[in-house]
Amino acid sequence: MKNILFVASESVPFIKTGGLADVVGSLPKTLDKRYFDCRVILPYYSFMDQKWKDILEYKTNFYMDFNWNSCYVGIFECVYEGVHFYFIDNQDYFSGDRPYAGMPYDLGRFAFFSKAALSILPSIDFRPDVIHCHDWQTGLVPVYLSNSFQENEFYRGIKTVMTIHNLKFQGIWDMDSVKNIVGLPDYYFTPDKLEYKKDANLLKGGLVYANAITTVSNTYAEEIKMPYYGEGLDGLMRAREHDLRGIVNGIDYDLFNPATDSLIYRNYDSGNFRKEKVKNKTALQADLGLEVDPKTMLIGIVSRLTDQKGFDLIAYVMDELCQDGVQFVVLGTGEERYENMFRHFAWKYSGKVSAQIYYNEALSHKVYAASDAFLMPSQFEPCGLSQLMSLRYGTLPIVRETGGLKDTVEAYNEYEGTGTGFSFVNYNAHEMMATVRYAEKIYYDRKREWNKIIDRAMNKDFSWHNSALQYQELYDWLIG
Ligand code: ADP
Ligand code: GLC
Repeated sequence: MKNILFVASESVPFIKTGGLADVVGSLPKTLDKRYFDCRVILPYYSFMDQKWKDILEYKTNFYMDFNWNSCYVGIFECVYEGVHFYFIDNQDYFSGDRPYAGMPYDLGRFAFFSKAALSILPSIDFRPDVIHCHDWQTGLVPVYLSNSFQENEFYRGIKTVMTIHNLKFQGIWDMDSVKNIVGLPDYYFTPDKLEYKKDANLLKGGLVYANAITTVSNTYAEEIKMPYYGEGLDGLMRAREHDLRGIVNGIDYDLFNPATDSLIYRNYDSGNFRKEKVKNKTALQADLGLEVDPKTMLIGIVSRLTDQKGFDLIAYVMDELCQDGVQFVVLGTGEERYENMFRHFAWKYSGKVSAQIYYNEALSHKVYAASDAFLMPSQFEPCGLSQLMSLRYGTLPIVRETGGLKDTVEAYNEYEGTGTGFSFVNYNAHEMMATVRYAEKIYYDRKREWNKIIDRAMNKDFSWHNSALQYQELYDWLIG
């Protein structure tokens, strides 16, 4: 049996702000249980839903040296869908009303978490062969592991994987504060290690010290070796290219299944979507105050409202698009200017545009099921899960060809009768608009073709099956 340990800052169903939580919550249970015992360590956030707190069992506690203090480390545990989850408790670090509060608060929070994740292993009696770290919040795990933990036999020989879900966030803060808080020797703070433009960079530490690096699609793995997508770390990515690979994300096919999903209005599958799917649209239109019309094309957006997702392109052409016979439903939160932008359009085009500016799991499923198309014109997209959810629900993605969007959505080719969605290349609002209008044309004028695209989309396999095999291969290779 090979022991794999995930360390991450969020995971479905306990805590979620984005796709990272979907991945951490669904990949471990899909690994082959005959060969892999995969467990997960998360922070015990005090704002976690009471329903999850109720199923956690207190295990033990101890004190750990951190930031010039002796800090309390409590351990809670639960088994969820066959996977052991451990939660690290310390209310000085994990209280507040959200997982990320910005620097420098997050620096202390996740440095503490990274050190504690390693420190609890003997107490939970789990010695991993591989520790799989996710994003900058856990970048210090491979670094700490290389340091004083090596004095203890228990930790020697543990391998590490660092997965980049988003290179934009690196955990950067001024050198002196970082040194002071994390308590690592000066040796680590040089330009070939944690130093980055005179500051300290936690993700960079993870990328230097991990035995292997992965990111969540092949295209993104290539893109981040270039300055445009490399966020200042493209040189390091090139230097480590032999240890870097792209493994595309899957989605939880039990949770996201239009045939059984209890969160949507009407279930359907690839056999009966022609009749049944539209009932989701009219029900959502009615619920959200859109004009109820089964024939009008509904374009959905479910997203963090940030620059990454290409909302400035939408801002440029939204007025023009609203002259067309389409409706928009937007579910998202994030940057205030985008929240207000959609509120504005919903006011200006009431009955045609609905802006739901909050986070809501159930509504997200309804949008995936109800919409005809899903718009995701990202500036960059490491993988993207929303387009995979859309494909699964027969909602055709309209995407920009970057990162995982490029790898998972095949552009419709009307001559060959292939493709599962619509895409454009350049980060340009008019290119996006032309693509949306092309999709409108197929939707209104060539409905049979549209439905055949849905057939292909719904029959694609974006479950974890294939990608889990690739992770297993990577773990096997690391363990030797
Ligand atoms: P990212 O991780 O960059 O935010 P992904 O496409 O990988 O993008 O994953 C986003 C996940 O978050 C999807 O599961 C999506 O449905 C969900 N999501 C985003 N915004 C909301 C929201 N406002 N309400 C509910 N779910 C949301
Ligand atoms: C990040 C990326 C997104 C990816 C997700 C899960 O949040 O922005 O593209 O799908 O992580 O890997």
